Amino acid sequence: MEYVMVDGRTLDRSAAKVDIEDRGYQFGDGVYEVIRVYNGKMFTGMEHLKRLKESAEKIQMKLPYSPEELLARMEELILKNEVDTGTVYMQFTRGISPRNHVFPGENVATTFVAYTRKVPRSVEPMEKGVCAILDEDIRWLRCDIKSLNLLGNLLSKQRAAEANCFEAILHRGETVTEGSHSNISIVKDGVIITHQADNHILNGITRQKMLEICRNESIPFEERAFSLDELSSADEVFSSGTTVEVMPVVEVAGRPVGNGRPGSVTRQLQALFKAEIERQCGQI
Ligand code: PDD
Repeated sequence: MEYVMVDGRTLDRSAAKVDIEDRGYQFGDGVYEVIRVYNGKMFTGMEHLKRLKESAEKIQMKLPYSPEELLARMEELILKNEVDTGTVYMQFTRGISPRNHVFPGENVATTFVAYTRKVPRSVEPMEKGVCAILDEDIRWLRCDIKSLNLLGNLLSKQRAAEANCFEAILHRGETVTEGSHSNISIVKDGVIITHQADNHILNGITRQKMLEICRNESIPFEERAFSLDELSSADEVFSSGTTVEVMPVVEVAGRPVGNGRPGSVTRQLQALFKAEIERQCGQI
């Protein structure tokens, strides 16, 4: 039996239904979050739930639960499904109403869905590194909102998968923004460079945690846009995100990064990030 949450209720997955006029289903009119679970505990759960609230506010949607209430509900679901290592996914849509581009009134309740998945950590790629392709960032100009509209991301990730690569590094013209499903950073002369948190990227919780670690450990970093040229002459490249943690990118567009092996700064960050997970969730 796999339990899911739909609105206030916990039910068997096979009993969960989506209305054909749910605005998430029809328009992608909603927001979501993915939280990593280690040893049955959520990692940076509250940070994700606060971002969910912010994403909702940015699209003028009011959530029926506070981040604290949601955290408790997600703990319940993780326990019920006996998730040890995995993820919890949740989304809110603007509810069910006759198809109309205009928002329905406040009397239409949001639809809330949450479920869990058991997924082990992908240790091997984290050790060996992965390859990435380059792709033009064709997405809209509010990538800071974690919205259900992921078609631009999907098209890029699909291109990466067809090239047997893990990620597509996106760029708007000469400027690198982020990945199709992660944030991208480079290392040059010991300094980490990652795009500033603005409307062109999702301000990853992993990215924020990583920068906090850098501050505490006096690892130099710059939050600024960097160019394709800087990417191709970088000493190290890595991707970061909830599902990928800190992932070395050792090949970009068919060319090796540095010596083609995970670099020392990336390795150091991986170790510090793992230590932070273990501090919050126990040994992994
Ligand atoms: N993706 N940028 C994009 C476009 C993303 O989709 C993600 C995460 C990130 C990293 O954010 P965070 O560190 O908060 O996970 C950056 C999630 C996991 C997904 O859609 O599956």
